[in-house]
Amino acid sequence: MKYLRALVASFASFALAALAPAGAACNSDQGTASDGARAIDPWALVPIRDENPDPNVIEVTLEAREGTKTYGTSPPTPVWTYDGSVPGPFIDAKVGDRVIIKLKSSLPEPTTIHWHGIRLPAGMDGTIAMQSPIPPGGTFRYEFVFKDAGLYWYHPHVRSDVQVQKGLYGAIRVRGPNEPAADQEHVVMLDDVRLKPDGTLAEFLDDTSKMMGREGNTLLVNGQTDATLPVRSGAALRLRLVNTANGRFFNLRLPGHTWRVIGHDGGLLPKPYDTERLLISPGERYDVMVIATGAAGSVVDLMNDAYERGHESGGRPSMTVAHLRFSEEPALSGRKLPDAFPAIEALSDTATRIPLVLDEGFRNGELVFMINDQVFPGIPHIRVENGGQRILEVKNASEMDHPFHLHGFFFQVLEKNGVRQPLESMGNKDTIIIPAKSTLKLVSRFDEPGHWMYHCHILEHAEGGMMGEIHVEP
Ligand code: C2O
Ligand code: CU
Ligand code: CU
Repeated sequence: MKYLRALVASFASFALAALAPAGAACNSDQGTASDGARAIDPWALVPIRDENPDPNVIEVTLEAREGTKTYGTSPPTPVWTYDGSVPGPFIDAKVGDRVIIKLKSSLPEPTTIHWHGIRLPAGMDGTIAMQSPIPPGGTFRYEFVFKDAGLYWYHPHVRSDVQVQKGLYGAIRVRGPNEPAADQEHVVMLDDVRLKPDGTLAEFLDDTSKMMGREGNTLLVNGQTDATLPVRSGAALRLRLVNTANGRFFNLRLPGHTWRVIGHDGGLLPKPYDTERLLISPGERYDVMVIATGAAGSVVDLMNDAYERGHESGGRPSMTVAHLRFSEEPALSGRKLPDAFPAIEALSDTATRIPLVLDEGFRNGELVFMINDQVFPGIPHIRVENGGQRILEVKNASEMDHPFHLHGFFFQVLEKNGVRQPLESMGNKDTIIIPAKSTLKLVSRFDEPGHWMYHCHILEHAEGGMMGEIHVEP
């Protein structure tokens, strides 16, 4: 089984469960949803207020401003918000919708919004490569069309390590024509904050945070501690997960259950796969389904296990992220999980290679994060003709994992340490873990002109120099 071996190699640190049983039908005989469980969604995000009556246009005025938020039993925390909420308002759309966001910034420092994972015109991407930061009191109008189904997110791209940590982030769900049937579907924004006893956020200037990215002492799902989701036993549950933390990798396990991964960053997978663990680095998304199974009234904890991402970071105890509480309703039966989605067009595996070496080091006594021995903005721009394909050969020479992120384009993973990766179960990605001392070959088609960023999504690493630009010619 060449395919299975490749899959095992690509997720070497996971305990891999059996592959999907053959012949499970897509989308059929799902029966009626569990209304009891669906009526109240304690994980619900605040929806945006669409000001435009056109069903194919989403138009919203968004204000970035200071606010407060209460995390669990902690005293109120001063945070930065979009329209007063953390996470910011949830954009729920369908492929082909046009979105217009009129951002007003009332923050005390410049900001932008970047639309992580969305393919859009470069001028709308919210980076300083294409846009001057919006000053305090300033406005900017973002407008683009959603081309691809999937789960995406938005966040600032100025001092992002500070601004995202303070609460500026929100989710975007774009629905496509091939959505699988599910009894319950939830967007799950994973985050952490480091709260001090007085409720304020720690300033995190310690050496570990600089080296590894900020990690908090409090885990959050959609901005909540101890979030509990009611589920009905036997229900097909779909979770759309995104890791919005600065530095923490989530390594999720739901005891007694096996996840079926049906999608990655850029949409559904032609060949979903099963796994016991979801390792999600900052910026990545996982689209998973599971048949929730438990006795009426029982609770199953969603656990985050330690993960060694370098510099002896792996020895910590497991933490509870959230809980599933099984309702008293009679169990549902006969739910099946999808085992196939439409094929994805494969990009070239012979395109010109661009070597990128990620490393850490010291410059003038300061810890820096480098690409090809240079620090942003000193890293030479990569130039590509419009429509050109390139293989980014990303080598991690450092002692820790780096989640590599590309703006504006998806990439496909060709190889990991010389081992071919199956497109059918990797799909299109925009963020991927480059493990310490490993090399991945990623191929992209650069078919939108402009200046695009690529960087490590540990935001302290990006701000610390591990960031570059790709210039696609007009
Ligand atoms: Cu979510 Cu440049 O990143
Ligand atoms: Cu991005
Ligand atoms: Cu990094």
